[in-house]
Amino acid sequence: MTFPAIRPRRLRTTPAMRRLVAETRLHPAELILPVFVREGISEPVPVSSMPGVVQHTRETLRKAAVEAAEAGIGGIMLFGVPEHKDATGSAGTDPDGILQQAIRDVVAEVGDRLVVMSDLCLDEFTDHGHCGVLAADGTVDNDATLERYAEMAVVQAEAGVHLVGPSGMMDGQVGVVRRALDEAGHQDVGILAYTAKYASALYGPFREAVASSLKGDRKTYQQDLANGREALRELEQDIAEGADLVMVKPAMPCLDILRQVADASPVPVAAYQISGEYSMVEAAAANGWIDRDRTIMETLTSIRRAGAEQILTYWAVEAARAL
Ligand code: PBG
Repeated sequence: MTFPAIRPRRLRTTPAMRRLVAETRLHPAELILPVFVREGISEPVPVSSMPGVVQHTRETLRKAAVEAAEAGIGGIMLFGVPEHKDATGSAGTDPDGILQQAIRDVVAEVGDRLVVMSDLCLDEFTDHGHCGVLAADGTVDNDATLERYAEMAVVQAEAGVHLVGPSGMMDGQVGVVRRALDEAGHQDVGILAYTAKYASALYGPFREAVASSLKGDRKTYQQDLANGREALRELEQDIAEGADLVMVKPAMPCLDILRQVADASPVPVAAYQISGEYSMVEAAAANGWIDRDRTIMETLTSIRRAGAEQILTYWAVEAARAL
């Protein structure tokens, strides 16, 4: 009597066996490092809610970009923190604004080795912290915001960025950015579309990282975590409007969405492991409650397995070195 006849454990017996049959492998080339650069500082400023992450000076950003390239990762996503914020986020469209300077610096330094991307959104630049401009009644004005995004896309392209990342969840943002880029002669600048972006408490640490003054939440423009179906509608829309890559965000609360988008998308699918996902692991590890290195690799593997082909993660450089 041979029972059980089916013994899946045979393929789990040794590290060599497990390695042979692993379906999901991580590679440095698919990792993207998000970085913050802040205007008007002379030393990097640690982000207290994200241990290990800093707001860079222009100088330390250049060094971080070189390290990232040397680690062999695929790309870098730049976020700018301006000295002065206002209602319309004018620093975001200033050709000499901090984000544009950072793009120029990083492209000059590693533009031949890394894909250089920039956040295309107003929240880092507005004094109210919303991702768009406000209407008289205080709501976020979709179509007025689109005009600002169009301007932002062009100044970022002029600074030399390879991919822009519209992340504000305004309706029509991909289309308006594509048209603005094309009309300005920047046909070769691509769009990494934040396609399914859900409102989440896990963006909390990012708000510190960009010195956001947001009160309240982004629930009138970011998606409701209770919903799955609308992610596919957003995907259809972004593809029709010209997205070159699409993204799902946050990553681990949305692994099911990631799988659905990966199955349906005709273009590469990225996921963003956001600030709170990072901080939860760092905090638990700092308490000695979980094994930090193993947990990091487990999170990245699960995101990859769910269908992400590119992963934005604050651990990109460290993970690449470990691979
Ligand atoms: C919007 C933007 C945000 C993040 C990336 N782009 C903030 C938000 O939507 O509230 C969050 C990234 C993170 O939490 O790591 N510019």
